[in-house]
Amino acid sequence: MTNTILVTGATGNVGGQVVKQLAAAGANVRAAVRSTSRAEGLTGVELVEFDFNKPETVQAAFEGADKVFLATPLVPNMVEIEATSVEVAKKAGVKHIVKLSVMGADSQPEMILAQMHREGEKKIEDSGISYTFFRPNSFHQNYITYTGNTIKSQNAFYLPLGDGKISFVDTRDIGAVAVAILTQSGHEGKAYEITGSEALSNAQLAEIFSTVLGRQINYIDIPEDSARNAMKEIGMPDLQIDMVLGLYAAQKAGAYSSLSPVVEQITGKKPITFEQFVRDYAQVFTGS
Ligand SMILES: NC(=O)c1ccc[n+]([C@@H]2O[C@H](COP(=O)([O-])OP(=O)(O)OC[C@H]3O[C@@H](n4cnc5c(N)ncnc54)[C@H](OP(=O)(O)O)[C@@H]3O)[C@@H](O)[C@H]2O)c1
Repeated sequence: MTNTILVTGATGNVGGQVVKQLAAAGANVRAAVRSTSRAEGLTGVELVEFDFNKPETVQAAFEGADKVFLATPLVPNMVEIEATSVEVAKKAGVKHIVKLSVMGADSQPEMILAQMHREGEKKIEDSGISYTFFRPNSFHQNYITYTGNTIKSQNAFYLPLGDGKISFVDTRDIGAVAVAILTQSGHEGKAYEITGSEALSNAQLAEIFSTVLGRQINYIDIPEDSARNAMKEIGMPDLQIDMVLGLYAAQKAGAYSSLSPVVEQITGKKPITFEQFVRDYAQVFTGS
């Protein structure tokens, strides 16, 4: 019988890559999505309607899955939904969980997001289910999600990150690492920090954007309060804002600049650079 691999957050930055790359590798993939209307790009896989806040959908999705790639959204009840998922996984007889965590989960205890991911990791450790933890740094693709619009419309992006250098990673590389881990043995009980091969400040990213896009793109270093107000204006809950700002503060202080060899070690390929990322997605930033 072919093993079934369930991927949650399948329409997300990382989950989407994991689904596509697993399917391309011939794996039997079950993609958990909130709405099939958002799953157009996910072909050749089983789609299952799934909402972390509706336990009956969690149960149905986990039933019969051998392995789970557990990507949870950045929401205030992240710890609860992970705890429920782990309980359901245990009952369903899931054999291995790969949890999408965050860099610093075990080394930045003062950071709320790290604390929350570490709590989720501990629930998995305590469950007795075999696991691998993915602890990536911030994604290249955040510059599409969070700053793509202003880069396109104002040739600028606004973040409270000072001149902190960050070893960003591309979600396509995280997907490739996931495929290796989910289809090979030898990664049980391990935690992998996942970064790119360069640590860059946002001023350096602006230079790369400018060179690749052929027009001046400016990084505007904003105060933390301005970032907080902008997130409040779009209706983000306070805890979610604190999760993001805590990460930004640690990144500004330089705590997220270390480099990990994991992408190359596990995939045999050098990590995708930020310059390559901008080339590959240039039309997102130009609108053409
Ligand atoms: N972004 C980063 O740089 C970064 C770095 C390290 C770790 N992480 C971790 O990666 C995870 C994903 O973060 P992200 O911001 O990058 O997310 P994302 O790509 O936007 O993905 C979130 C996914 O969760 C789904 N989702 C949201 N609410 C759901 C619910 N109630 N039930 C089921 N699915 C739901 C979304 O589905 P819809 O398409 O329906 O909205 C989407 O597929 C978080 O745990 C974060 O801490 C992120």
